[in-house]
Amino acid sequence: MISQKLQDALNEQMKNEFFSAYLYMAMAGYFQAEDLPGMANWMRVQALEEMTHGEKFFAFICDAAGRTDLRPIEGPKNDFESPLQAFEYSLQHEKFVTDRIGKLMDLAREEGHHAAQIMLQWFVTEQVEEESSFSLIIRKLRRVEGDGRGLLMVDQELGQRVFVPPAAAGA
Ligand code: FEO
Repeated sequence: MISQKLQDALNEQMKNEFFSAYLYMAMAGYFQAEDLPGMANWMRVQALEEMTHGEKFFAFICDAAGRTDLRPIEGPKNDFESPLQAFEYSLQHEKFVTDRIGKLMDLAREEGHHAAQIMLQWFVTEQVEEESSFSLIIRKLRRVEGDGRGLLMVDQELGQRVFVPPAAAGA
């Protein structure tokens, strides 16, 4: 069982994860329009990962005999000044998500809900990886600012990313 307060917070975070998917798909569309298919690919894979994050919250709420509540999702930002600005925007969003996960963990601890803490631990670790991968791309983009060839090389590299479904990844 989960308390109403914890259930509300989990449902809100489920929404945040699905919103992340929506935001990264919007960015994929922006990159596609900018003729940067590698970055578009990277963001599409990221969006798919975010869907699996939302699904983890969905599954946990169901398993804990709670009630899911799919909330309205805002429209994301669709346009950016540059690839660098889009990735910086993403990192800010990930920092927001990290903060929300931290607050959820605090609540699960306060309520002594051990299963929720274990589930959230996965997200705590995941957020470290997410912030790190966005930060690395930002550093690369800063390094190639104003250099079209460099930008295309980063684009090519990001085109290599492949979506690994959670079951296959063991997550
Ligand atoms: Fe699921 Fe990127 O936070």
